[in-house]
Amino acid sequence: MKYLAAVVKECLRIAPPVEFGLREATESFQLNKYQVEPGQLLLTHYPSVHKHAFADSNEFDPDRWYEESAAYNTKYANDQRNAFLTFSGGGRLCAGLKVPLSFPLPPPSFPPPDT
Ligand code: HEM
Repeated sequence: MKYLAAVVKECLRIAPPVEFGLREATESFQLNKYQVEPGQLLLTHYPSVHKHAFADSNEFDPDRWYEESAAYNTKYANDQRNAFLTFSGGGRLCAGLKVPLSFPLPPPSFPPPDT
């Protein structure tokens, strides 16, 4: 089950269904060499972030999410797992993020159990 979750997460990393995140700056700040001012729009291309934050990023390998694999702590030890942006992040994080990652759902029971 944990490995299946890793497979799903790796699918969502390599091909995020939502490709872009758009945010409007509410205050000024420095972003690397760029000065961002309030009102400016910031467009993040999630596949590009994923490409740079993960080792061998074009390779489909669920082991990068599977803590029990040897590769998790060796080949993928420096993966920036918190750069997984498929569900966005911060205060506007996807409210349903646990739904796609919790498959397979338990089978429905018929008749429904008494409540
Ligand atoms: C693979 C499936 C999904 C993906 C890739 C996904 C991705 C995202 C992303 C990227 C955002 C941020 C949008 C933005 O503000 O820029 C978001 C927001 C949201 N998602 Fe999902 N989502 C998925 C499934 C779901 C499901 C199943 C639900 C509900 C059951 C859900 C509910 C929401 C809600 C309510 C927000 C708005 C959160 C907020 O702005 O406070 N999502 N989702």
